[in-house]
Amino acid sequence: MRYDARIEIANDIATRVIPVWSRSLGSWTFSLGRKPFESHELEGHYDKEADTWHATISKLGFEDAYADLIGQALSSTPVQPANEALRVLDAGIGTGAMSAALADNYSGDMALTGVDVSMDMLKRAEQHLNHSHLSARFLQADVNSLPFEDNSFDVVLVAHVLEHMADPKRALAELHRVLKPGGILVACVTQRSSAGVYIQLKWRTHRVDRSTACEWLWDCGFVHARAVDLQEGTKAQRFSCGYIGQKAHYLNQSPSE
Ligand SMILES: C[S@@+](CC[C@H](N)C(=O)[O-])C[C@H]1O[C@@H](n2cnc3c(N)ncnc32)[C@H](O)[C@@H]1O
Repeated sequence: MRYDARIEIANDIATRVIPVWSRSLGSWTFSLGRKPFESHELEGHYDKEADTWHATISKLGFEDAYADLIGQALSSTPVQPANEALRVLDAGIGTGAMSAALADNYSGDMALTGVDVSMDMLKRAEQHLNHSHLSARFLQADVNSLPFEDNSFDVVLVAHVLEHMADPKRALAELHRVLKPGGILVACVTQRSSAGVYIQLKWRTHRVDRSTACEWLWDCGFVHARAVDLQEGTKAQRFSCGYIGQKAHYLNQSPSE
């Protein structure tokens, strides 16, 4: 009994560290990890960034890159809500750049729910999202524990949030839970590149290679999960990679079916 308890503690510590570097030498593996910021620390940091965030991502070309990624997601996996507005969750919405890209690309009615731990980011998102076919509500909530029923949304957006998580699969499982069967997930994650090093040092985030991120999606039950290059020619392409996945229409649907 005592032995089990120790294993539990060890696992808990392991999942709270973000891997930064690892090398193997014979039977030895040397690795360096870093504790991520807790949710309340991120709330404080992003409150401070809120005024300048939109200009920063715009300068790096993320508005165009998000528009391109959303366009690819909608053309490969059309979403058709039955006689009602498209229900969209933007988890870690920030100033709303990815929601704006979806609203620009989708001509039907859209009911957006934006969640974030930072109240200042939520206020900026509210100011920024003023499309006529969009109704929106904004809530302070943690992506790891969302206050929504199962199968609530047609589309879930999560841009540059999973890399902050000590356990990204916990957040992805929560996003999968609230997505309707057949609904689509569009994600963007900092990639393993030299450009991502600065982000990792400043924000204590994961830098993830594509196969690892796709495995996260598959492990959490998403089908047709794939990596998508961000728009060529944007600085955004050097920092991050896009991912598209879908919640299975029926139980036991295989990842590629
Ligand atoms: C890098 S910013 C990305 C913002 C926006 N998605 C974008 O692409 O511009 C990360 C956002 O996630 C929010 N965030 C961080 N951890 C969160 C959590 N556990 N739950 C909800 N939001 C979180 C931050 O407050 C911040 O607004």
